[in-house]
Amino acid sequence: MLTLLTSEQIQQRVRAMADEIRRDHPGDLHLVCVLKGAFIFLADLLRALPGSTTIDFVAISSYGHGTRSSGEVRLLKDLDTGLEGRHVVIIEDIVDTGLTLHYLQEILRARGPRTLRTACLLSKPSRRQVDVRVEYIGFTIEDRFVVGYGLDYGEQYRSLPYIGVMD
Ligand code: IMP
Ligand code: MG
Repeated sequence: MLTLLTSEQIQQRVRAMADEIRRDHPGDLHLVCVLKGAFIFLADLLRALPGSTTIDFVAISSYGHGTRSSGEVRLLKDLDTGLEGRHVVIIEDIVDTGLTLHYLQEILRARGPRTLRTACLLSKPSRRQVDVRVEYIGFTIEDRFVVGYGLDYGEQYRSLPYIGVMD
């Protein structure tokens, strides 16, 4: 395993993202964490966010139509509470083609949040297929498959405190 981002780099960046998110949302803030990959990012972000913050979780899966994923999202686990009138930030691990996030944003926007923004720890812009809006990006990376800090390969490696590239 090669280290792409150390635990210290991640912690520092997550704290800066928390400050930025708080500045944009001075009042009540509701975080929607996309399971499973974003759970560690959410936990660190939440502890770095001062003030009133609530959380909820969605689990999603992308339908595959034939050999290519359409990115069409199926909710495996829906939210526990509604979003109407709330200031919502989606918390995701990585934006790759952008298809998953694009669909999720549409589903959540239809529920009438006052504001809806998105925070991703990682972004691979060279892979983008749809122009999805992500207001907060932790790190922009090359087209490499990464694991650790919540991200998995076949459900393994989520517990690594750093982001690694498999060699
Ligand atoms: P997208 O619809 O192509 O943007 O898919 C994003 C999803 O694919 C993320 O939420 C991850 O679950 C997964 N993914 C994409 N790239 C990686 C990676 O490098 N490591 C682990 N999971 C990834
Ligand atoms: Mg994911």
